[in-house]
Amino acid sequence: MRRKFFSLATLVVLASLFLAACGQAAPTAAPTAAPAAGSGSSGSTALAVGIVLPTKDETRWTQDEARFKDALTKAGYQVEILFSEKDSAKEKANVESLLTKGVKVIIITPVDGTAAAASANAARAAGAKVISYDRLIRETEAVDYYVTFDSIAVGAQQAQYLVDKAGDKKGNPLYIYAGAATDNNAFIFFEGAWGVLQPKVADGTFVIKNSSEATALASKATLTRDEQAKIISQITTDWAPATAKTLAESNLTTATAADKGDVFVLAPNDDTARAIGDTFAADKDVTSFVITGQDAAPASVQYIIDGKQSMTVFKDVRTLVDDAIKAAVALLKNEPPASKGSYNNGKIDVPAIQSPVISVDQANVKAALFESGYYNAADYKNVP
Ligand code: BGC
Repeated sequence: MRRKFFSLATLVVLASLFLAACGQAAPTAAPTAAPAAGSGSSGSTALAVGIVLPTKDETRWTQDEARFKDALTKAGYQVEILFSEKDSAKEKANVESLLTKGVKVIIITPVDGTAAAASANAARAAGAKVISYDRLIRETEAVDYYVTFDSIAVGAQQAQYLVDKAGDKKGNPLYIYAGAATDNNAFIFFEGAWGVLQPKVADGTFVIKNSSEATALASKATLTRDEQAKIISQITTDWAPATAKTLAESNLTTATAADKGDVFVLAPNDDTARAIGDTFAADKDVTSFVITGQDAAPASVQYIIDGKQSMTVFKDVRTLVDDAIKAAVALLKNEPPASKGSYNNGKIDVPAIQSPVISVDQANVKAALFESGYYNAADYKNVP
């Protein structure tokens, strides 16, 4: 299962870049020294890269932390990883603290994509490069690169799962939920889902039960960002299970028994899916529900095995970490990282690389998550 993250050549480059950084070289200095391979294995070597992640409260981000540490320490490098506790002010303080320590590249997953522009600007002013990691930093030119999953595919796979389960039956009640409006990904996931769901709402397969804005826009195949924002404002979970639960409860209180029965639920990620799913499961008028998710969070993998969550979208964090490290190495050399396309952040087109995602349910959970070596089956109960 273990992918080798660093080739010998990469190690040499990283080591030499570190030496350049240690020597207080100018930010643009190219590596000059190339110590023998493995010279970083003492663990005392520091990488000129800092990482800022949004919260420790979600396994999604502690997994990223673990994978970064795994990849970097195996290569003999130290890296500083800071968490922002879902607070943009804390995030900015983290970035400033890393800049004070002289990091040359900051890898950051913003709590709030637009608020993080100030941190990106500070990094650029200090001569550091910025990699937007998983979530896009918006409304600034100071983003050098974006490492992401194919987020349109995330939403499309969630929606396709619902469509496939609905089959030819018409009039299926559909409840839709989204991520945080401060997270650009929430828009991209929703856009991906809308592209698949909208024709099925227009043809009567689904009837949206919890968003008057979505119902009003049901004949539009493509939505503007403002239109998406209107819908998301009614269905946001804020990426918080407690908010998701409260919203689902409120939706089910408003809905009549006729709006329930066999229902379909677009849930944006695993942590909110479990909260929403538990709420639907507790409603006596809900006879069955199909519910989506995202992340292959360990608790949701168990829910899928147990039949309490229908599917998740597996995003292999190892690939993202690998891409981010490759990009950091390129930027440290003042080279453009390999990119495939770009994402507009409101100010510029940010060169990006996006990795594929996999739809996982009971049928392929074993192959995708256990046999692949991503998770250890011994940590789960009743693995098929
Ligand atoms: C990430 C998801 C995550 C969510 C909540 C999104 O930006 O892409 O993987 O579940 O944030 O943290």
